[in-house]
Amino acid sequence: MSQTDSLVEEVVEKNPQEKHLSDYRPSDYTISTIDLVFDLFDEKTKVQAISQVERVSESVTPLFLFGEALTLTSLLVDGVNFTDYQLVEDGIVINNLPASFKLEINTEIDPVKNQAFEGLYKSGSAFCTQCEAEGFRRITYYLDRPDVLAKFSTKVIADKSLYPFLLSNGNQVDQGDLENGRHFVSWVDPFPKPAYLFALVAGDFDVLEDNFVTKSGRDVKLALFVDKGNLDKTQHAMVSLKKSMKWDEERFNLEYDLDIYMVVAVDFFNMGAMENKGLNIFNSKYVLANPQSATDQDYLGIEAVIGHEYFHNWTGNRITCRDWFQLSLKEGLTVFRDQEFSSDLGSRSVNRIANVMTLRDHQFAEDAGPMSHPIRPESVMEMNNFYTLTVYEKGSEVIRMMHTLLGEEKFQQGMQLYVERFDGQAVTCDDFVAAMQDASGVDLSLFKRWYSQSGTPQVFVTDHYNSDSQTYQLTFKQKTLPTANQKKKLPLHIPVDIELLDVNGNSIELAPGKTNRVLSLTQKEQTFVFEKITTRPVPCLFRGFSAPVKYQYSYTDEQLLDIMSFATDEFSRWDAGQSLFNKYLIQNVKALNAGKEMTVPIIFIDGFKSILVSETLDPSLISDMFTFTSENGARELFDQVDVDAINKVRGFMLNEISTQLHELFVDTYLRHNQLKAYQPDIDDIAKRKLKNLALSFIARVDKELADKYVTEQIASCNNMTDHLGALNAANIGLLPCRATVMQDFDDKWFENGLVMDKWFVLQASMPSDDVLSHIESLFEHRSFDFNNPNRLRSLVGAFAQTNSYRFHNIDGSGYKFLTDQLIKLNSQNPQVASRLITPLIQFNRLDAARIKLMKAELNRLLALPDLAVDLYEKVTKALAQ
Ligand code: TRP
Ligand code: ZN
Repeated sequence: MSQTDSLVEEVVEKNPQEKHLSDYRPSDYTISTIDLVFDLFDEKTKVQAISQVERVSESVTPLFLFGEALTLTSLLVDGVNFTDYQLVEDGIVINNLPASFKLEINTEIDPVKNQAFEGLYKSGSAFCTQCEAEGFRRITYYLDRPDVLAKFSTKVIADKSLYPFLLSNGNQVDQGDLENGRHFVSWVDPFPKPAYLFALVAGDFDVLEDNFVTKSGRDVKLALFVDKGNLDKTQHAMVSLKKSMKWDEERFNLEYDLDIYMVVAVDFFNMGAMENKGLNIFNSKYVLANPQSATDQDYLGIEAVIGHEYFHNWTGNRITCRDWFQLSLKEGLTVFRDQEFSSDLGSRSVNRIANVMTLRDHQFAEDAGPMSHPIRPESVMEMNNFYTLTVYEKGSEVIRMMHTLLGEEKFQQGMQLYVERFDGQAVTCDDFVAAMQDASGVDLSLFKRWYSQSGTPQVFVTDHYNSDSQTYQLTFKQKTLPTANQKKKLPLHIPVDIELLDVNGNSIELAPGKTNRVLSLTQKEQTFVFEKITTRPVPCLFRGFSAPVKYQYSYTDEQLLDIMSFATDEFSRWDAGQSLFNKYLIQNVKALNAGKEMTVPIIFIDGFKSILVSETLDPSLISDMFTFTSENGARELFDQVDVDAINKVRGFMLNEISTQLHELFVDTYLRHNQLKAYQPDIDDIAKRKLKNLALSFIARVDKELADKYVTEQIASCNNMTDHLGALNAANIGLLPCRATVMQDFDDKWFENGLVMDKWFVLQASMPSDDVLSHIESLFEHRSFDFNNPNRLRSLVGAFAQTNSYRFHNIDGSGYKFLTDQLIKLNSQNPQVASRLITPLIQFNRLDAARIKLMKAELNRLLALPDLAVDLYEKVTKALAQ
């Protein structure tokens, strides 16, 4: 007993080590069952874990179990007290064990002290858990690795009046009352699972119940648990869940497997949501919505995340990862599936555009920065640092490319084979690709390089038209620049989906009945020849963004405008508009630096005018066409980034577009401002999106009119989308009404943290040079809570990410501000700190003065005596650049 007491305090690792994919070894021991008993108390929860353990290695080796922040109270082997063990820094080593035995471990943990929100913790008055990636080791000593799959049973004991609901994975098998006002509920999950999928929740909730009959006729009970008083905000999540279950049956032939599916919404959560078997735990942001408190984007986000976690039941839970380096096996695939779900239910092009914006604005920068890694990383210090845009979003692009190369039918055959082969197992990305290849007969051996190579490939395209032979040639050169983690790069297998437009804007048939063709670019340089092309065509490249690359072709303005108007693929039309904007952005930065005048030519204005007045285009797509490259995205266009010039030029161009098209924006605003009852359906969402976009353009140049519209819109609107759209315009234009409408909103919503997050985001993204002093005063705001990750991301995260021009203020104040917050957060919630630090480590291509300031702040972090490994990994990698 006495030797364990000293291990209560958390151990700080001084020089954390990297773990390598190549070091993977199967476990020496397996666990077939684990029976857990939780006796829940705020500061001292008792956990009993009884596991059936088998040795599988040939030789007799000690059993190492991971454990962190645990107090061991007893250890028994086959029911007898056992003392032949050592507690070590990150777990326990148990010696001289038999080949097969029952291991009982009793520990105590402190859920209230746990502000890292990993393991068992309290969110408000409820107990909940978060075990992915390596949080279960904060609950008990265990083989906390994804390739150890056990059947879990869980008995939860707690005070009955405070915690009427006691939930865990699987099916409820028992319940009853105990002494002292306590009660218990027992659960059994029949599906073996790794510990990261374990979940427990205890609390008092409002519950929305429903049911879903699967295609084979099984009746599944659905239950959504939310904080009391929030039942009026649960309907959309439930509808989304049922849509997800239906969609996965229809498109992927995958059916739900338990008798019950539960979702719990909590306010304190580090990420979006978690797919624990049969018991998803969600950030309340991705559950709660009604028209008054949630925007259209919130509605869409809820649908996507509910879908994502549900889809994990097969791609993640039934088939899981062998080790954490394989994370993209479940995440890339599940993101692909949730993107397809959203695209099938809504607009495919609008979804595609949103996903590409995320890649270009954020993932490309990650892949060029100090944390650059392949979608299957090869070395990791802190696993929580690898839940990245690369693993998730680029990972989903890699799945999407396979879908493009195989086609839907063969891709689905590959999925069926994958499920047949690997159900109930912990497998690798190679296993997935092998199933795809075996089922389709398509050779993916070269394609697999996408799993091991980091960095965004660049593709340079040139062409040649020969009118005599009527042949057209497209030549592609691919190149990936060295990245921090990997110097040497190889050619990749890049699918290039193309269309050729003739002089009249009609698409040229490239195969019988086909106007597009998917070229397989596999070499460093490769030429494709097209026969019987009667006039010089305009090439429309990377339709639907068929590969996550940066591509370049010297388009004339006229060619881009042709693609904007005539391409079959709506994504390509949008992308041509982006290219046109980028072309002048680059040109104007040069002009500005040369002391010349900046321009937005009339041909540009006219082209976009015809988009704005279009009666046939989806208003949502029109709105996206006017959502021009962000400042973050713009940095990707330059070898040497001039933060100030990009901000000036972008502002100039947007104002110029506002001025030139002012009447049309007013017309667009008025035309779409006539909706009656709120419906979050695709048509109305599109109209509101375009209307509020028009308002934001008006607010740039006609403050008086915008002020009037904003005030009227707030007075008359019946939904959060329009209320926030008006506030956003007031914020962008710094309109006279801004202070008043912001205060009114605050007075109306200050008790609702999720709604106030939108307000904090606006405050943090205010385009004003004193924004920072403003933000600092908001730390004292009645709705702010430094311990709540959502609040923190809305105020601190939004400033650093979306107000990046001011974050990068050359006086260094933005860097210092962020670092101050990270220092406060470091010991308490390193996971969130490590996500917020992102813009401070991505200084590649910035000017020397800024890099120096950023490095000084990183050194301030490095000097902390207790710097968390999460931050240590990023800080050291950034400083090594
Ligand atoms: N697996 C979760 C998902 O669906 C991600 C996640 C939720 C997570 N909470 C986490 C990852 C905490 C790491 C830590 O994508
Ligand atoms: Zn996921």
